Amino acid sequence: MTSSITIRRPDDWHLHLRDGDMLRAVLPATTQHFARAIIMPNLVSPVVTSAQAVAYRDRILAALPEGATFEPLMTLYLTEASDPNDIAAAHASGLIKAVKLYPAGATTNSASGVSHFDRVAPVLERMAEIGLPLCVHGEVTDHDIDIFDREAVFIDRVLDPIRRATPGLRVIMEHITTKNAVDYARAQDDTLGATITTHHLVINRNHILAGGIKPHYYCLPVAKREEHRLALRDAATSGEARFFLGTDSAPHTDANKLLPCGCAGCFTAPNTLSILAQAFEDDGKLENLEGFTSLHGPAFYGLPVNTDTITMIKGAPTTYPSHIDTPDGPVTVFDPGYDLNWSVT
Ligand code: DOR
Ligand code: ZN
Repeated sequence: MTSSITIRRPDDWHLHLRDGDMLRAVLPATTQHFARAIIMPNLVSPVVTSAQAVAYRDRILAALPEGATFEPLMTLYLTEASDPNDIAAAHASGLIKAVKLYPAGATTNSASGVSHFDRVAPVLERMAEIGLPLCVHGEVTDHDIDIFDREAVFIDRVLDPIRRATPGLRVIMEHITTKNAVDYARAQDDTLGATITTHHLVINRNHILAGGIKPHYYCLPVAKREEHRLALRDAATSGEARFFLGTDSAPHTDANKLLPCGCAGCFTAPNTLSILAQAFEDDGKLENLEGFTSLHGPAFYGLPVNTDTITMIKGAPTTYPSHIDTPDGPVTVFDPGYDLNWSVT
């Protein structure tokens, strides 16, 4: 029985850090385990320009806990008015590692996102030329499309046409939640990657809706049926290089989650690695954990892997806080619903 595992230090290829007090409160949960993270740009005033990305990066670095070594990998928020030259310059200078596409209205702070995908074609063509990856929130927003079908419909109606129209564009399907997305990803060439969150490996839609509504399990894309969770588990633990970890750890205060119209997001940064080690072990795939958390992401982004390591041990139930305090109130940590027994030493 394996009771200890040492892996390259992980990276998080999709993370929400927010800003101000919230940033300072949640950042240590990520920096204690992760070396780098792709930082989502959906602030209340989104990070659209390179100047805004520089300023946001500086605020993140200023909020780092004492002694932490952590590199925020910045992204720009794509709008229909995004300037291809500004984006190309931000890439050339090393400032940004990706551009984020939010369909307008798909999720938190996505109102400035894209409604007419043809209007961003020139930017996407430029990105394909310069090798800058596009991170995609893959859901349509049409009111007549059932929310549980929005990812699958997006693949057919938006993602596949964009990829066909923009050969060579490197695309990350973010936080995939369906077997449809897994199957689509597996059928593509190596310009396509996909991130999978921790929580979508654990919960299905019953966790949100059966036996009372559980707002802390509500996120976007919303968790789907069990067959989809099992497809995600299979993909994540498979060792296939196109699948890698993007936690989508998305803190909201309890006050903003527990509302008649509550916010979407699961805050998984504090216990993600314990949950993942247990999931991979349960599936008999512990040997593939390092690929998912630490190797496949850098390979897709063309970055070096981390040189340092972390060690996890299996033992007494893992302790982690039930919530993190912020000046605006508590943020509840994702509860997988069972005891965890792997801990980072
Ligand atoms: O659950 C989510 N929360 N999904 C997203 O796409 C955005 C995120 C957030 O920013 O809260
Ligand atoms: Zn996200």
